[in-house]
Amino acid sequence: MKILLTGGAGYIGSHVAAALVSSGHDIVCFDNLSNSEAGVMDRLEAITGTPIPLVKGDIRDRDALDKVFGDHAVEAVIHFAGLKAVGESVAQPMRYYDNNVRGTLTLLEAMSDCDVKTLVFSSSATVYGSPSYLPIDEEHPTSATNPYGRTKLMIEEMLADVAASDPEWRIATLRYFNPVGAHDSGLIGENPNGVPNNLMPYISRVAAGRLNELSVFGGDYPTPDGTGVRDYIHVLDLADGHVAALDAIAKTERPLSTWNLGTGQGYSVLDMVKAFERVNGVRVPYRIAPRRDGDIASCFASPERAERELGWKASRGLDAMCASSWSFEHMLAKRNTD
Ligand code: NAD
Ligand code: UFG
Repeated sequence: MKILLTGGAGYIGSHVAAALVSSGHDIVCFDNLSNSEAGVMDRLEAITGTPIPLVKGDIRDRDALDKVFGDHAVEAVIHFAGLKAVGESVAQPMRYYDNNVRGTLTLLEAMSDCDVKTLVFSSSATVYGSPSYLPIDEEHPTSATNPYGRTKLMIEEMLADVAASDPEWRIATLRYFNPVGAHDSGLIGENPNGVPNNLMPYISRVAAGRLNELSVFGGDYPTPDGTGVRDYIHVLDLADGHVAALDAIAKTERPLSTWNLGTGQGYSVLDMVKAFERVNGVRVPYRIAPRRDGDIASCFASPERAERELGWKASRGLDAMCASSWSFEHMLAKRNTD
């Protein structure tokens, strides 16, 4: 299939690009490079042995979308493009609604007009709000506690309405839990600008001496060691989940499907720190700091529906997540000194 990846130069998009090429798909990436760089395409070529076209453009630009659909015989879209920093979304809500919600609406209009009606959308476990039970299955009630989460919920609602309006649509909403880790090659991974918000890149930078110590946000949660518990999923497993979802919606009669992509296993912040130290033979100094606003104690998935309906199950454990994050950190350091 010929697949358009919006946000294809980003962290998750680039790993999915590599997985799709290995599965025999033909892809084109569309990205405004607001949180990525064009150099990732050379690294993807080194990984896959195939040059992958990157079209620089914005999903809010209807003309640019029409051109990419006109130039390439696109059959399906995987839609990663979006802004994703919770704190930033609180400070700049309009930017988030504009980029994420208006951007998605523009993309849907362009798709509909050129009769491309197969879509995989990057949603998030954030749509479950504060969990009322664990593990979280897809029937868990949804809510949002910040503008970023509300953009994901609004888009999910928009997709449900679009799917209900026309039975030809085949839409998969994938609710990611906590993607971490990097490609085995060490060539692509998560490289946030500025000080990382997320745990794993922060741990890597502390271990590398680029940051002094990790602040563990909260040591008094009702969890086994008092620190927050999350469902960390290796980005390569997540990527395989996209390939499986795309295959599944190509066969299903259902216009809309929703799947959790998680492992079902929760680990605490201190579990992550200890695993990273053990696997990589490094030290990660930390101190217990106050809780972070908006954080919840525990969040982990029931991945059963994805296993049953997609035949997909995460297979990589914590050690592989920690080892690949550290290899990528090394590669970044090398790239910066070359
Ligand atoms: P990322 O920032 O690395 O990738 C997003 C890409 O989209 C970037 O390359 C960016 O330049 C591009 N982009 C942003 N706005 C755009 C626009 N208007 N037009 C064109 N391109 C645009 O983020 P990621 O971690 O790869 O996340 C991908 C998707 O997955 C996002 O929608 C995010 O909300 C969702 N998600 C991520 C996580 C996570 O922890 N990483 C968790 C749940 C959901
Ligand atoms: N944490 C720390 N110190 C840090 C960073 C994080 O202790 O410096 C803790 C957090 O308090 C939390 C855990 O590490 O307990 C994970 O935090 P992340 O920021 O890595 O991830 P979140 O679970 O808060 O959120 C992530 C994405 C969201 C997404 C959500 C569910 O950032 O966008 O997973 O998919 F919605």
